[in-house]
Formats: sequence, C-alpha cells, structure tokens
Amino acid sequence: MADTGGRTAQLSIDGKTIDLPVRDGTIGPAVIDVGKLTANGYFTYDPGFVSTASCDSAITYIDGDQGVLLHRGYPIEQLAEQSDYLELCYLLLNGELPSAAAKTTFVDTIKRHTMVHEQLVHLFRGFRRDAHPMAVMCGVTGALSAFYHDSLDITNEQHRRITAHRLIAKMPTLAAMSYKYSIGQPFMYPRNDLDYAANFLYMMFGTPCENYEPNPVIARAMDRIFLLHADHEQNASTSTVRMAGSTGANPFACIAAGIAALWGPAHGGANEAVLTMLNEIGDERHIDKFIKRAKDKDDPFRIMGFGHRVYKNYDPRAKVMQETCREVLGQLGTEDDPILRIAQRLEKIALEDDYFVEKRLYPNVDFYSGIILKAIGIPTELFTVIFATGRTPGWIAHWNEMISGPYKIGRPRQLYLGPPRRDFVPVDRR
Ligand code: SDX
Repeated sequence: MADTGGRTAQLSIDGKTIDLPVRDGTIGPAVIDVGKLTANGYFTYDPGFVSTASCDSAITYIDGDQGVLLHRGYPIEQLAEQSDYLELCYLLLNGELPSAAAKTTFVDTIKRHTMVHEQLVHLFRGFRRDAHPMAVMCGVTGALSAFYHDSLDITNEQHRRITAHRLIAKMPTLAAMSYKYSIGQPFMYPRNDLDYAANFLYMMFGTPCENYEPNPVIARAMDRIFLLHADHEQNASTSTVRMAGSTGANPFACIAAGIAALWGPAHGGANEAVLTMLNEIGDERHIDKFIKRAKDKDDPFRIMGFGHRVYKNYDPRAKVMQETCREVLGQLGTEDDPILRIAQRLEKIALEDDYFVEKRLYPNVDFYSGIILKAIGIPTELFTVIFATGRTPGWIAHWNEMISGPYKIGRPRQLYLGPPRRDFVPVDRR
C-alpha cells in the first residue's frame, strides 16, 4: 500500500466533517482514500472513472500532460529503441529487466508453449468463415480454460506463471489461426527457429506449399508494434480484466473479457476504425469536410486515432509508431501510399485546428499503427487482434499483480434515479 504520509483531506457535508486519508504514489497525483464515505452515508460519483484510481499498481505510469509512458520505470522510447517485445513481457511480469541468462530461459519457455491443443482446431470450425476475427478470439481464448485444468488454481503462483507463459505464447498462434481460417488456408504450426514476431508473420503468411522467410525489417516492425501495445495502466480493457479477475474467474476467462472490451472503436477497435475512416475520406480534398463533422456536436463522427482520456499531449507511442511507419513504407517502397498521405495531411490540419488544440486532442497509438499493419499486408479486420496480442502481457501482469496480493471483488455503487418504493398493481387494475 502506498505511503500515507499521515495527510488527510477534510470533507464538510451536511454539518459534519469527514477526514479522508491521502496516499502518495512514487510519482504522479496523490489519491484520496474515500473508503469510509459509505459508512457516513455517501458514495463518490464519477461516471467513466475520469477522476478515480481503482487500485494501486507498480507496473505502468502515464503522465498525460507531459506525454510520458513508463513500464516499471523505463521510458517507452528507450524500450522501443533498445529492447524487444519478449524482454518487455518479462519486465512487465517480473518488475525487472532480465539478465542475459534469464532472457534466454524466458524466450525458450515461451517458444515451447506456442502450439495450441490440437482439439482447439475443431473449435474454429464452428465459426462462419466471415466471422470477425475478434469474435473468434473472444471464443477461443476463453476456451483455453477448457484445456488447462492443470493450472487453474489462481492461488498457486506456479499456476499463475505457466498461465502467463501460455497466454503470451499462444496469442500469436490463435491470431494467425483466426486469419487463416477466414481465408480458407491451412493453419501453420509455429516454428521454434524463428523469433516471436517473425514466427507470427510466418504463421500468418506462410503456406505448406513453399518456403516463407519473413522480411527481418518487417519482423522488427511487428515486434515494435507488439511492444508499443504491451500495457497502458488502467485502460478500459485492463480494468475489465481486473474486474473479472476480482471474482476469482480463471485467467483465460479474464483475458477473453479484456479482448471483448478492447474490441470497441473507442478503445482498441480504433486502429481498424482509423483505416475505415481514411478510406472513407478517400482524398486529401475531403479532409476539411470530415474535420467539420468531427467538430459538430450533433454528429457522432470523431477523428479516429485522435484524442485520449489521459494523454492531453502527444501519445509517446504515436511518435514511435510514426517513425516505424516511415521505416516500413520505405522498406516496402510505398512511402507515397495515398492513405499515408491523407493521414499525414489530416494530422497536420487537426493539430493546427483551434478545436483540437483547445481540447488537447493529439494522435494516439492507433493513428499510425493501422497504416503500418496495412502496409505489412495484415487485413483491416485483424488490426484489433494484433492489439489484443500485444496487450496480453499487460493484462496478465495486472491480473497477477491483483491476485498475488490482497484484493476485493469489484462492486461499484450508483446514484439511484428510479421510482421510490411503490406497491404492485394487479393487471386488472392498471
Ligand atoms: C486507446 O485508455 C487507454 O489507455 C486506451 C489506449 C490503450 O493503450 O489502452 O491508449 C488505447 O483506446 C486509444 C484511444 C483510441 N480511440 C480513438 O482513437 C477513438 C477516437 N477518440 C475518442 O473516442 C476519445 O478521444 C476517447 C474515447 C479516446 C477519449 O474519450 P474521453 O476521454 O472520454 O474524452 P471525451 O470523449 O470526453 O472528449 C473530450 C472532448 C469531447 O468534446 P466536449 O464534449 O468536451 O465538447 O473532445 C472531443 C469530445 O467530443 N473529442 C473528439 C475526439 N476525441 C474527443 N472530437 C473529435 N474527434 C475525436 N477523436
């Protein structure tokens, strides 16, 4: 529990004063512990949890005003430049960067869990070929709990550890399977001679008919995309995983809940929505019309990939993603991609527009990721599946952090606005 420092906040209401403990974190805003308000007959009210800390955590820190993102204290820019995805997975799960030997062991362990139970293949057969891959991922990830009865005791640290390894290892395999199933091609088994991202690309684009060696530059970009999506504090899907985990549900079910929450276009579904929007804009000449729509209170249209609950400055991941975008398109010789040109023009116009400046709306992680994924050849409807794959270590690290310490079942209250007590009226008297 964070240091209390003995400070209190005083709440004066209805003629009484309530002293509420103030707790300080390592860095960032202090929190006011409102736990004893209920005993005094009050609830806090904060729809969307704009001003609410749901837990304490040591995994990720975000400063939205400064555009800072730290994973266990390390800046995302340094991790993107000097680390790799599996090393970040280790860091998120264990709290420290691995030694060379520990990293080798971790990478080898993950490699040995990349295959899925052969019977899981039959589960895919139950879906329509044109099912959205996120619908498939919700189903098959939850179904993993039907295969691993040997490690579902959430009070057992070893069970939690092997489950973390299994989920990190199998998500790319399941993601690639959801793609192969949608195009009627055979599933490709993982290859242990390839690193994590290259193996994913192999399972996505390889076929039994010919040799397929992933492009190392593309594989590095894929690894960086996974890395940039790995964790992001108490976002909607991570909070969903914590809420599901607080009931004692098994981790596979909790991650499936996180995948479902991520699917929404306001959250992880935004990368797919960015590409749909850019294609709808279609030409730089139409951008002003869409900016106008985004500013119209009566029009639900928003510039997808812009804005963030926490970042009121550039999302630091968006900057790294933008550099990666240039690298990939340069490597593929498609740097003059018309979609990229529309995106760059849209970004420039929006960043100079008073509406976006006043509301501090900047590009977020989803703005450029879709363009890279499209350039790599990932179909648009698989973009959020890529996000879910990358976010898995973050979800499981938060779940494990909660379960490995004291926790309560999540059970918010409400401001009731319904009718007061009234007696039932039989139908013949209504
Ligand atoms: C992710 O939480 C996380 O950490 C999420 C994430 C992660 O890694 O887990 O970072 C990943 O989800 C990134 C966000 C991806 N979503 C989008 O790009 C969708 C477009 N963005 C918006 O839907 C919106 O910005 C949200 C949902 C991201 C944030 O919503 P908030 O914090 O609830 O802010 P808001 O909706 O109250 O917006 C504040 C104002 C509003 O105007 P007013 O009511 O004050 O007049 O800004 C406007 C909004 O209308 N606004 C936009 C806008 N985003 C906000 N107007 C036009 N275009 C936009 N994109």
